[in-house]
Amino acid sequence: MLAATGVVTLSGSAQAASTLGTAAAAQGRYFGTAVAASHLGESPYVSTLDAEFTSVTPENEMKWDAVESSRGSFTFDAADRIVAHAQGKGMKVRGHTLVWHSQLPGWVGGLSASDLRSAMNNHITKVMQHYQGKIHSWDVVNEAFQDGSSGARRSSPFQDKLGNGFIEEAFRTARATDPNAKLCYNDYNTDGVNAKSNAVYAMVKDFKQRGVPIDCVGFQSHFNSNSPVPSDYRQNLQRFADLGVDVQITELDIEGSGSAQATSYGNVVKACLAVSRCTGITTWGITDKYSWRSSGTPLLFDDNYGKKPAYDAVLSALGGTSGGDGGTRTCTVSYAKQEQWGDRYNGKVTVTAGSSGTSGWSVPVTVASGQKVSATWNGTPSWDSTGNVMTMTPNGNGSLSAGASTSFGFTVMTNGNAAPPTVGACTAW
Ligand code: G3I
Repeated sequence: MLAATGVVTLSGSAQAASTLGTAAAAQGRYFGTAVAASHLGESPYVSTLDAEFTSVTPENEMKWDAVESSRGSFTFDAADRIVAHAQGKGMKVRGHTLVWHSQLPGWVGGLSASDLRSAMNNHITKVMQHYQGKIHSWDVVNEAFQDGSSGARRSSPFQDKLGNGFIEEAFRTARATDPNAKLCYNDYNTDGVNAKSNAVYAMVKDFKQRGVPIDCVGFQSHFNSNSPVPSDYRQNLQRFADLGVDVQITELDIEGSGSAQATSYGNVVKACLAVSRCTGITTWGITDKYSWRSSGTPLLFDDNYGKKPAYDAVLSALGGTSGGDGGTRTCTVSYAKQEQWGDRYNGKVTVTAGSSGTSGWSVPVTVASGQKVSATWNGTPSWDSTGNVMTMTPNGNGSLSAGASTSFGFTVMTNGNAAPPTVGACTAW
């Protein structure tokens, strides 16, 4: 048992987690992948997704050309299929991306400055409203800086017609639309300390100082022999985190094979785990077969969905072990305080099934002496005689497929003691 401060995760058995998602959950992180809607009907693709990953990013389906190819006419079908699949499995969804110079329909480039401003704000508003409550983090602006040593902004219709302020405006519009989604700036070649990351750093610092809403920075982390994992990767993630934003590894892939690739992948995971505000890792695809890179075998599963040495290195860096769990059903829990006001706070516990799934689970939650739980939701509590220990079981069907998550919540009346609850280990059957 652990006293819960912030987010903690406990494993339901002594056995190490045996999937990427459960091992990451045991570290308080998500482990995600980019997904293409066109592959959701393929069984090895979907079974690997469902078994291993706890977050998805639509690879192309939420981009401007996919959702608003003609002005004011929105098409969400393909992205909706990904979101529905993820929600059905208890996975998080990263929204990618609202404002980007690429995959931008031609009509956007032809607008006058004032039309472009209203089209940008309308696009952000309509897309975010459609997915309100379903997206964990949005890449609000993607790749707005040039490569190279200038640290300059990249030319785009937004930059050229609206000037530097388009980024700030996009974030303000996004916050006004969905105050509960985390708002990220996302870019590549910003993974180490360099001129480009320095420019993004200066922007994020300025935003934090002036109260421009930004919650997270995405580091795409596309690596190859010309652009290897930088030796100051962790240091770079940490300096951004120190500005008061979460950091996320958003599009990880590393060209190569064998032990060299495995070592690089393991180093990326270790860097994230060393930074407490590094909240999750997403690989840019599941299998080498469907990587956006035409060569280089950059992902964790080979063309036949076999686990590569890189997979083992990632699992091991996350503290998990391969080889299944021998049929033992396991689950992990993580706790996060939600809102706090006056005399009470809300807590949320997320239960994630191990690689054998669950047909049921239970989690003990103990509140401090003097505190009282005044309400619970999404679970059935039973109480010990002191009234301080609540054992939560599912409402109705407790089945979770491998790696899937569910959550329950409760309100604690503090009675002057705002201490967090103690969340015990999860038991699965
Ligand atoms: O769907 C059409 C298909 O109908 C057509 O026959 C085919 C012919 O070219 O194109 C298909 O669309 C392609 C699409 O991927 C789906 O496969 C586009 O041409 C192709 O340009 C597009 O590439 C995507 C690329 O972004 C576009 O910039 C990649 O899949 C996607 O992985 C990549 O993702 C980006 C991130 O969004 C941002 N960071 C970099 C990352 C990698 O480039």
